[in-house]
Amino acid sequence: MQYIMKGGNPLVGEVVIGGAKNAALGILAAAVMTDETVVIDNLPDVRDINVMLEAIAEIGVIVDRVGKHTVKINGSNIHTVQVDNAYIRRMRAGYYLLGALLGKYRHAEVALPGGCDIGSRPIDQHLKGFRVLQAVTSVEYGRVIADAKQLIGGHVYLDMVSVGATINIMLAAALASGSTIIENAAKEPHVVDVANFLNSMGANIKGAGTDVIRIRGVERLHGTEYSIIPDQIEAGTFMLAAAVTRGDVTVCNIIPKHMEAISVKLQEMGCEVVEFDDSIRVVGKPKLQSCNVKTLPYPGFPTDMQPQISVALALAEGTGIVTESIFENRFKYVDELTKMGAQVKVEGNVAVITGTNQLMGAELVAPDLRAGAALVMAGLAAEGFTTVDAIHYILRGYENFDEKLRGLGAEIDVINDEREAQKFRLRVG
Ligand code: UD1
Repeated sequence: MQYIMKGGNPLVGEVVIGGAKNAALGILAAAVMTDETVVIDNLPDVRDINVMLEAIAEIGVIVDRVGKHTVKINGSNIHTVQVDNAYIRRMRAGYYLLGALLGKYRHAEVALPGGCDIGSRPIDQHLKGFRVLQAVTSVEYGRVIADAKQLIGGHVYLDMVSVGATINIMLAAALASGSTIIENAAKEPHVVDVANFLNSMGANIKGAGTDVIRIRGVERLHGTEYSIIPDQIEAGTFMLAAAVTRGDVTVCNIIPKHMEAISVKLQEMGCEVVEFDDSIRVVGKPKLQSCNVKTLPYPGFPTDMQPQISVALALAEGTGIVTESIFENRFKYVDELTKMGAQVKVEGNVAVITGTNQLMGAELVAPDLRAGAALVMAGLAAEGFTTVDAIHYILRGYENFDEKLRGLGAEIDVINDEREAQKFRLRVG
């Protein structure tokens, strides 16, 4: 399956942003920690979420998809704490089931995490946290095992700011005895959302959104109804798409505060960014100006937006330096961009991007989720036809991506073979 597109149309109009995938993954794991029914709304209908739902259903959780974006979960019939779904290995966030099941049952076994290949992605900080809570951890037959006779709160100092470790430790600690303090915690909006969700189930978590989180363990969690926050990265991707196509797009149903790092960069590049209560309008300008970008933990510029802003820099006036400080292997898409005429030099974790007036359509392959979306943006800004292969990556995190882009006036479609490509070319001319 590929996307095919003809670039050149400015994207114009409104696009509604879905629920945050990365918050949803933590929340679905948290939802199995009670025996009562939990209703979760604003759930994005994307592959990673469907894999997670399948994985929890396999261990006995009752998953009732009551609507496209609403699910009812009941974890009272879990019959095994071994999670070894064939797909979960390909997804990073399966590891949240370690913290969730360890908290609830004091034992968990989960197949080692996969996810996008954007550098080595160890989970030593997660395991360190579990050990502070008195669990014993090991890796056997490709599974991570965590076991605790008693789970007792403790003081965890993270060596680096890790979203995954912060959420995972929070999950286990929510049902531990006594209090846990996580220092150097991640402050991402989805960390706060998972904490709010757990609190709505009766957990006692304070300080989420700061770098010290305090969790007082409770005996049990109860049912709740909860709506997931909007996806910062989906919103950011459409904001950048407006900039690179010199369009005028309003991203709706978002929390503008979460978008600040991105909004500021777009303004530096010369775009007009107008904030409303729950939407942002981005008006692209004929000429973008270069700027420098360094990815950092929240509230810094998100690493998940690094490929998208690099596409904008490839089309800007002047030279911009992009420093990737979270993952060491996140420039693999650069080879694809250079096929379109982009001028990018990568040296370690730094990309030096010299803007050009026009990218040319090309045949591209998505190397991972966010870079895949960035290549689509590049194709929409380029002259002529572009194809992007391996779009299963993109479908992991973007719901109805091509449909939403078409709603903004993009010429884009999904094709399965050359005949369909030919039809598209004839249709759009
Ligand atoms: C999450 C997001 C991902 C995003 C990333 C950074 C999910 C499912 N994925 O990934 O989209 O790009 O945050 O915002 O929410 N590290 C260790 N040891 C650990 C844990 C992390 O060395 O135990 C390192 C990582 O290799 C990386 C850095 O810490 O260099 C940050 O990783 P982390 O925040 O944990 O990312 P993820 O939770 O995997």
